[in-house]
Amino acid sequence: METTNDALDTTVSHKKTVAVILMGGPTKGTRFRPLSFNLAKPLFPLAGQPMVHHPILACKKIPDLAQVYLIGFYEEREFSLYISTLSNELKVPVRYLREDKPHGSAGGLYKFQDLIMEDDPADIIVLNCDVCCSFPLTDMLEAHRNHGGMGTLLVKKVSKEVASEFGELVADPKTGELLHYAEKPETFVSDFINCGVYIFTPEIFRVIKDVTSSKHERSVVRRLSSFEALTISSSSKYTLQADFVRLDQDILTPSAGKKKLYTFETNEFWEQIKTPGMSIRCSLLYLAQYRVTMPELLATGDGKKSPTVIGDVFIHRSAKVHPTAKLGPNVSISANARIGPGARLIHCIILDDVEIKENAVVMHSIVGWKSSLGRWARVQGGGDYNAKLGITILGEGVDVEDETVVVNCIILPHKTLNISVQDEIIL
Ligand code: GTP
Repeated sequence: METTNDALDTTVSHKKTVAVILMGGPTKGTRFRPLSFNLAKPLFPLAGQPMVHHPILACKKIPDLAQVYLIGFYEEREFSLYISTLSNELKVPVRYLREDKPHGSAGGLYKFQDLIMEDDPADIIVLNCDVCCSFPLTDMLEAHRNHGGMGTLLVKKVSKEVASEFGELVADPKTGELLHYAEKPETFVSDFINCGVYIFTPEIFRVIKDVTSSKHERSVVRRLSSFEALTISSSSKYTLQADFVRLDQDILTPSAGKKKLYTFETNEFWEQIKTPGMSIRCSLLYLAQYRVTMPELLATGDGKKSPTVIGDVFIHRSAKVHPTAKLGPNVSISANARIGPGARLIHCIILDDVEIKENAVVMHSIVGWKSSLGRWARVQGGGDYNAKLGITILGEGVDVEDETVVVNCIILPHKTLNISVQDEIIL
């Protein structure tokens, strides 16, 4: 039988892809408190859309995408409403798969191997939920198929000072092969870092299986003494378990330099969303991306019939903003919020059902669900998004009374503030 090149090309272009987004669970993302008390971190809105929605939209652009799996150890009910609306909107099946306990980033993937392989994908996109970037998945997939290795990692050059907060790596400058990988090393290795965006062939499952088996053998030999079992922390208990496998330390480090893994460099924006402050920064980045990808999501207004808008601003269609209010740059207003006359909002995230009364000011802050700001109240932060008190965060249902000033504070849910506060955490 004759096989033409055309026939081969068709087979290649119809290779299926499956996407997996690693969501973690309630015991991860602790730096995101108090906002994660109310809502699973992957659902926190950035530029008006849940954090996880941005990578999902990027996956949707992949031709022949068969499924999107969200894997985590949150309760299923936390995602059910989001997933049911999403599946209708996207026309790509999206499913949440729940782990009974943390298995680590590679262990979570491995646990659902059979489901992930049901569509017989040639490639599996794996994304950390808490990264904000342009997700150049189509170009990455092309590079991945060209080099033919087991995996491709998105990498970025960052300043030497911050590199040690991430996985540092060395790649062959000509071939892009990953030669060396060290997760958060104590001594400087390289200013190229792992962005938490991967594409693997199904061979990844064999590698995870081998790591699991060798961990299992070691744990049998080692057998924890009862003293050791009492003294180790709960997180180290997980890392000792054979079915707890991390993509970075357990898979990338030992697979480097074996012609299995390759890098794909991005020069576009990339950030990790570990703290509430970073969600204000990442909202800014996604709003700027809307200018190019979805300008219809950005508000416009000149203060006549609608509020004055400066720079990139998102206003949910159910929110009511007085035409004399002034918004922007970098403001995201969620559902049913009410913004009164003369209010001024800059670099902030206003969550559902918030009320902001006349002439109140919000700057470098996150205003939690159902909170209210009185007339001439001022809620602001210094704008250092990595510092613990670099922004102000109001938890759910906080009332800031008229003329009260709150600067660089974290206010836990359901507090009423009638005196001004600065640099405090109010429990
Ligand atoms: P640190 O919080 O500083 O350790 O950052 P990191 O980005 O290196 O975190 P880690 O490698 O723990 O997580 C990478 C991604 O995998 C994140 O999106 C986590 O939410 C997710 N993740 C981590 N552990 C698990 C797990 O056990 N199961 C699942 N499903 N996801 C996980």
